Amino acid sequence: MFTQILTMKKATYFLAALLTTITVISCKKNDTKITCDGSNPTYTSYVKNLVDNNCVSCHSNFATYSGLSTVTTNGKFEQKVLIEQSMPKNGSLSTEELKKLQCWVDNGFPEN
Ligand code: HEC
Repeated sequence: MFTQILTMKKATYFLAALLTTITVISCKKNDTKITCDGSNPTYTSYVKNLVDNNCVSCHSNFATYSGLSTVTTNGKFEQKVLIEQSMPKNGSLSTEELKKLQCWVDNGFPEN
């Protein structure tokens, strides 16, 4: 009886560990680590166009630098677009585009 309880406890721990692992793996949608490609894209010549084409249909406030800055300054832009790569929703940016965005983020998202 006692050993049976012990085994059940072990099985429960095992299942919990398994579920945690599955959850962690499935949340990691894309594990391509994005790094800056060495370019210096500007907001006006590069980022604005990309955001207009990929984000503004849902996030109309991102059409201006100040609107977009609400998510760049609080870290959510980098989190969703470059780390989780869960934005743009229902779409995706190419690795090349992500690398350029990473440069802009690394440069402190200048309004240039
Ligand atoms: C098809 C619609 C759609 C598109 C296109 C889209 N988003 Fe989103 N976005 C959402 C929705 C809905 C949410 C909130 C729920 C969620 O996170 O899924 C969201 C949430 C976010 C958040 C988190 C905001 C917060 O305060 O937590 C950020 C940052 C973001 N999006 C950035 C972007 C960027 C940058 C793009 C373009 C590269 C983009 N999104 C494209 C629909 C979209």
